[in-house]
Amino acid sequence: MKVIHAKDYNDMSRKAANIISAQVILKPNSVLGLATGTTPIGAYHQLIDWFKKGDIDFSQVSTYNLDEYRGLSHDDPQSYHHFMRENFFDHININVANTHVPDGSNPNAEEACSEYDKIVAAAGYPDLQLLGIGNNGHIGFNEPDDHFSKGTHCVNLTESTIQANSRLFDRIEDVPRQAYTMGVQTIMYARMILVIASGAAKAQAVHDMCAGPVTPSCPASILQLHTNCVVVADEEALALL
Ligand code: PGA
Repeated sequence: MKVIHAKDYNDMSRKAANIISAQVILKPNSVLGLATGTTPIGAYHQLIDWFKKGDIDFSQVSTYNLDEYRGLSHDDPQSYHHFMRENFFDHININVANTHVPDGSNPNAEEACSEYDKIVAAAGYPDLQLLGIGNNGHIGFNEPDDHFSKGTHCVNLTESTIQANSRLFDRIEDVPRQAYTMGVQTIMYARMILVIASGAAKAQAVHDMCAGPVTPSCPASILQLHTNCVVVADEEALALL
């Protein structure tokens, strides 16, 4: 695990965007694993800026997002389908047909998850997987548990995640209670993993991810076993390390 210190959120975002940009320049048909949440927005906006300046070309890139709320249509403003279009895909020259997010609108969890596993496997798994980290150490929506998950599956969100995500909804009751998420094993298949973290609320999780025991009670801790994992975090997120 390589830990890169960033001064603040903007510095973290630029450093992460630089790494993603280098990946796409080196391999124009890269398979990127992407994440939602507040943390990656700055990196996406930086990449959009470089795209507009002609520095980066996404025409051959394909993307696979980590997760999606169960029960939301693709057009729901709270869905991760919508988030990705609004914050990234609508502003770059990616072929929309090459962008993938688990199908939260399919109520048949088993079918939605196994189909997603098939398409991620058929793509050969991401060259680079971007990850945020939850305050409780979750990656994707793989919540603390007594075992590490494997493929895409349906999860019940923990109270702490519902609480953390409620800031993006009008009322806490509106936060979906379930999600489809790539499993930890699938995440570990990525050839490179880039974790980004910002702010004091992430400090304990970043400490446990990098320096705690490898345990499913902090799902991100398994990244210590990945051979090519880079963490870019700002001063507040690194405060306990
Ligand atoms: P955040 O979420 O970027 O909104 O903090 C990260 C995560 O839960 O993985």
